[in-house]
Amino acid sequence: MENAVQAAIAARNNAFAPFSKFKVGAAVVLRDGAIVTGCNVENASYGLTMCAERVAVFKAVSKGARPGDFSLVVVATDASVLTPPCGACRQILWEFCGDVPVVLVNLRGSQRTFSMKDLLPEAFDVSNLG
Ligand code: THU
Repeated sequence: MENAVQAAIAARNNAFAPFSKFKVGAAVVLRDGAIVTGCNVENASYGLTMCAERVAVFKAVSKGARPGDFSLVVVATDASVLTPPCGACRQILWEFCGDVPVVLVNLRGSQRTFSMKDLLPEAFDVSNLG
């Protein structure tokens, strides 16, 4: 897990956040041990901004990962109050990662772990279709 935490912290340095100045790094760990990172990428059309968590998940999917292949999520910021995934990211994380641990860290040494089920109770997903 420590490797994934360090990877998320490093990915945060690549954040493109000229508007909010709020840099976020994320890492997802696959069941084969691979770590895939992401950072937030903002846009002058603010609503097009993509969060670090979704960048990490979509990068992993683009490499061939599928639902069930994920074992851990890490989110890193420098906020004194640890940064949880936004609602949109929770939905995406649930779809691909399921009920995995989500580790929130900051650069000041704070760390706390939640389960996806606690972050998104009674989630809508593929089981609700049809
Ligand atoms: N952001 C993330 O990347 N992940 C989160 O969990 C929370 C918010 C980004 C989006 C935007 O670029 C900036 O943080 C401020 O909302």
